[in-house]
Amino acid sequence: MDNTMDQGMNKDILKVLLTEEQLHQKCAEIGAAISRDYAGRDLLLVSVLKGAVVFMADLMREITIPCAIDFMVVSSYGSGVKTSGVVKIVKDLDTNLAGKDILIVEDILDSGMTLSYLTELLRDRGPASLRIAALLDKPSRRKVPLRADYVGYEVPDEFVVGYGLDYDEKYRNLPYVGILKPEVYTK
Ligand code: IMP
Ligand code: MG
Repeated sequence: MDNTMDQGMNKDILKVLLTEEQLHQKCAEIGAAISRDYAGRDLLLVSVLKGAVVFMADLMREITIPCAIDFMVVSSYGSGVKTSGVVKIVKDLDTNLAGKDILIVEDILDSGMTLSYLTELLRDRGPASLRIAALLDKPSRRKVPLRADYVGYEVPDEFVVGYGLDYDEKYRNLPYVGILKPEVYTK
């Protein structure tokens, strides 16, 4: 197998925004804050597949208090690339949320449409608390007023991939976050 750089994904990346070391450091910081804030609580980390799996996997190992994890699969209604905000639950949580302290773990907060719909939905299930941890935040793109309680990094309005984030289901396995070369998605 040819293993040269130009056969790999690195050639499609315009610029590395966040290195593996920076991402690891940030997970450690957020994990420590969560461990302090949720001490003695009944913490459940909820993540929406698939973009947040890498962040979830790294973050949960930086949390030093007992916690459970669960996953949801959702799909946006309507066609095209624009998020309508109305999502269909493809796979629901296995856990009853009543009385639990829910922390939604998200890869990136963009328009905020998906998450604002989801938080309403989960709030109706009677959790003790409901908060959001987002690795990345693009505040300039927000369409609904929503902020995360824990934010890793603010990023500019560019299309980023890696560390779970995809373009056309690819690049999720890049260990860093980078800006994708525009020619990749315009060709
Ligand atoms: P929104 O906040 O409802 O607009 O949707 C956020 C979702 O869009 C994220 O969970 C990602 O799956 C996806 N997304 C937004 N911006 C990017 C990006 O720059 N790269 C990859 N996926 C993105
Ligand atoms: Mg996502």
